[in-house]
Amino acid sequence: MQIHSAIADLRAALKNRGQVVFVPTMGNLHAGHISLMEQARSHGDTVVASIFVNRLQFGPNEDFDKYPRTFQADCDKLAAAGVDVLFAPTEADLYPEAQEYTVEPPAIQNILDGEFRPGHFRGVATVVLKLFNCVQPQAAVFGKKDYQQLMVIRNMTRQLALPINIVGGDTVRADDGLALSSRNGYLSAAERAEAPRLYRLLNEIRAAVRAGETKYTNLENQAIAELAAAGWKTDYVAVRQQSDLAPASNANAPLVVLAASRLGATRLIDNIEI
Ligand code: PAF
Repeated sequence: MQIHSAIADLRAALKNRGQVVFVPTMGNLHAGHISLMEQARSHGDTVVASIFVNRLQFGPNEDFDKYPRTFQADCDKLAAAGVDVLFAPTEADLYPEAQEYTVEPPAIQNILDGEFRPGHFRGVATVVLKLFNCVQPQAAVFGKKDYQQLMVIRNMTRQLALPINIVGGDTVRADDGLALSSRNGYLSAAERAEAPRLYRLLNEIRAAVRAGETKYTNLENQAIAELAAAGWKTDYVAVRQQSDLAPASNANAPLVVLAASRLGATRLIDNIEI
């Protein structure tokens, strides 16, 4: 696996490599990331991963400084997964000057996660567009675990006419249902034992909706109450339309239930399509 940090070196390395498929990450890789790498293989000739902890998408009181950085272990995992090229820019490579030109997503950036993480999706969209410009891939793979992020990136790619096929990768879960996430490592043993409750509740909501329940607010509030009783602090549990993450406007709209809740100091997000 080649590793490049400078944009010019990366571009030179990607000349004449056929269809390039890109999987951007912030490192601290787990089986969920590796499954995205494996999926990438079927969408092109050269798989490029990136590792960059993007300061722009973290709020002032978030975990940018303590975000786990495990570069050598990540390189070993990527090489074992058959990734061809790793782009691992430093901050000086990617942001050599203050990033004053940014991508401003529309109203979707202010709902759900965006309501609780102001500026987060601006930071994500800006770095993803910049990474796309560095790598110039024909396809890119993003996990469905970050459902709203995937939608922001899909919409940005379509509206800016970027010639990139955006592929959504299924969420990988531990045996007890907890969605794999780099932030799971922050959980204490007791919190880790409690954490699968979030996925269980999402499944209960899905079962209720499939059985015909349409009072989504009641389902959301019941889940929030159960989480609170077990010590969680919830930002949202929300049944939304898959198409735009707005509240359901017609009975036939395909739905998704999304949640973000804090267990101790760790904020977990998850979702399932209904
Ligand atoms: O999902 C992530 O890991 C990050 O948000 C991304 C897409 C790599 C942008 O920094």
